[in-house]
Amino acid sequence: MTHVPTSRVRVDRHLSEDFLATTLAADVRGGLTSTPKHLPPKWFYDERGSELFEEITRLPEYYPTRAEAEILRAHAADIAARSAADTLVELGSGSSEKTRILLDAMLAAGSLRRYVPVDVSESALIGAGEALLEDYPDLEVHAVLADFEHHLDRLPEGGRRMVAFLGGTIGNLLPSARREFLADLRRGLAPGDSLLLGTGLVTDPDVLVRAYDDAAGVTAQFNLNVLHVLRRELGATLDPDEFAHVAVWDPENQWIEMRLRARSAQRIEIPALRLSVEFAAGEEMRTEISAKFHRGRVTAELAEAGFRLDEWWSDSAGRYALSLATATGESPGPAAPDLE
Ligand code: SAH
Ligand code: AVI
Repeated sequence: MTHVPTSRVRVDRHLSEDFLATTLAADVRGGLTSTPKHLPPKWFYDERGSELFEEITRLPEYYPTRAEAEILRAHAADIAARSAADTLVELGSGSSEKTRILLDAMLAAGSLRRYVPVDVSESALIGAGEALLEDYPDLEVHAVLADFEHHLDRLPEGGRRMVAFLGGTIGNLLPSARREFLADLRRGLAPGDSLLLGTGLVTDPDVLVRAYDDAAGVTAQFNLNVLHVLRRELGATLDPDEFAHVAVWDPENQWIEMRLRARSAQRIEIPALRLSVEFAAGEEMRTEISAKFHRGRVTAELAEAGFRLDEWWSDSAGRYALSLATATGESPGPAAPDLE
């Protein structure tokens, strides 16, 4: 971990200098040599990708952000009182915009001292941190540049903590990764600490598909942005115009799947990996899943990881839920070794 001052915001960096060169390279090699091809969604979020996500949150079709804000506005005081946390850790914090509703309530309740936003996007962390320092001068903002799939054991310790994982980002993890993530998270908490978890709910497939395939094409740009990242970081000889955005609802797995479909047969060279990859015309590569849930599944997965569900709130349209859970005395067994 290094601590390089680039702005007034304190940022602990747990992504090594060669994070892109090594981790992106390994993900791309693994994903593009698999059948079917796939890439993990964390690589969407360079500076442009983080901006595009913010644009998505303002689209008429993309309801999760507004639904979560509605629930936060209705219940933030209750959340603050129940958690009585002095430290709010937020995983995948992005712009931290909605978080302000929570910060305001926790500060009003008098418990909050420290906010720890955690993200892989440095531009999002710095942008959010600078804005928060302006508006919350008495709050300690301690940002952490880290991958929540690997670095949950490196979060700042101490105090009574609440971890917020908002936006439905947990749905971007495959079920096995989600299970591992929740177990890792629980291991890092003390009994009595709380988890505030946002999840999209299973709803009308047409509404879901529109939310991930908007009329203005912003989600398409967000999806295609991963190809720009591959070009810039790995020298991949691909033309993003040769790929089309696809969003489908998978009723069996209960998730939206975003894919990139090759418009024509093509061969891509990735010099940094000494890899050559063929796409057939029409071949689709998975770039993101966004799982949607029912209350029963959330309750069961939380319980399996050592969390007790205390509160479940949904928005007025019934398309999104926020869960407040407590870390119980039973934590899952020891973590498998993480080689990163
Ligand atoms: N919580 C915000 C942002 C959601 S977008 C909201 O609800 O609006 C998802 C965020 O998670 C992005 O900021 C992205 O950079 C971050 N992210 C994605 N994968 C991550 C990972 N593996 N580790 C840490 N942050 C990640
Ligand atoms: C960050 N995450 C919860 C978003 C989602 O809805 O799955 C990412 C996204 N992908 C397309 N649009 C938004």
